[in-house]
Amino acid sequence: MPAVPVSFDSFNTLADERADERILEARARLGKRVVLLCHHYQRADVYRHADITGDSLKLSRLASQTEAEYIIFCGVHFMAEVADILSRPEQVSILPDLSAGCSMADMASLAKVERCWRELSAVLDPDEQVTPVTYINSAADLKAFCGEHGGIVCTSSNAAKVLGWSFARREKVLFFPDQHLGRWSGHQIGIPLDRMPVWNPDLELGGLTPEQVRNAKIILWHGYCSVHQMFQPARIAAFRARHPEGKVIAHPECSFEVCRASDYVGSTETIIRTVKESAPGSRWMVGTELNLVDRLAHEVKADGKSVEFMGGMVCMCSTMQRIDPQHLAWCLENLADGVVVNRISVPEHEAQFAKVALERMLAVS
Ligand code: 13P
Ligand code: SF4
Repeated sequence: MPAVPVSFDSFNTLADERADERILEARARLGKRVVLLCHHYQRADVYRHADITGDSLKLSRLASQTEAEYIIFCGVHFMAEVADILSRPEQVSILPDLSAGCSMADMASLAKVERCWRELSAVLDPDEQVTPVTYINSAADLKAFCGEHGGIVCTSSNAAKVLGWSFARREKVLFFPDQHLGRWSGHQIGIPLDRMPVWNPDLELGGLTPEQVRNAKIILWHGYCSVHQMFQPARIAAFRARHPEGKVIAHPECSFEVCRASDYVGSTETIIRTVKESAPGSRWMVGTELNLVDRLAHEVKADGKSVEFMGGMVCMCSTMQRIDPQHLAWCLENLADGVVVNRISVPEHEAQFAKVALERMLAVS
């Protein structure tokens, strides 16, 4: 008879310390059968249990290389989907709390992207002229759309390269869901801002004129990250006034104005590496999620480096925050008892084309 899952109810009220002990006990029982992948935005009480940490690109690469039977993804839903798509069929991808989504990923749906494609075809021939590019922060069915229409996935660390790949194939790009990453990456490869109009999926022809569509090099989807859009250039100006020698680094999900006012722009992994490799005693302002910034500030303190958060208020990825020690203990104990809970399984028909788009990206980066 199949084992029955233990419900989460009894874990909900578990004290953090006890949850921690139970995570360690369950992991000892599971040994190498389980690997814990953790994104840099993960909270400290979960992050300390990670086997592997990284940005989206690094974690998707490693998800395809791990030998473990169970991949527990301490991140958000699209990351666990990527792990499922890129891992072997017998491996199981698990998201400890199914409500850990990404609000930006939810801003583009397959129905809306398909409607956009249909509307574009009134002005041009999208399958001949437009490469669809989806940020990895998107649902598997959108990655599949890209795979099927000659398109590709990108992450925040390879978006400019991916645009180069795309323009080598077709003259235009439809970039979703993050307008900011698309705009910054387009700017990096020399595309003028007026040739990157924003497509509003709630308006007919995205709110654009046929002329604007014809003139566009990159059509940017009207999506954004609610965490990164909080950062303001005024905070950078105030930091520079206080510390003229200080350096500023921001994630490309920040607005164009913030990226332009920064000294460096890069993915979470790049931010960490750049600050860690800087000279002892350097002073930094960092524009990305608070858990990462706090951890980094702590780690480089011993070298006399100081790291200041760019936000004027608390900016955390509230959805990733939902993965807590209680949910981690709950799914690990069930696993140790032979029961899989919260499996993320992408349907075969989506996984097949999504993998095509992901593999194109891995080959490019
Ligand atoms: P990275 O590619 O830097 O990991 O960013 C992912 C993400 O969701 C940032 O908000
Ligand atoms: Fe999504 Fe923003 Fe959270 Fe990144 S920080 S996972 S883009 S909501």
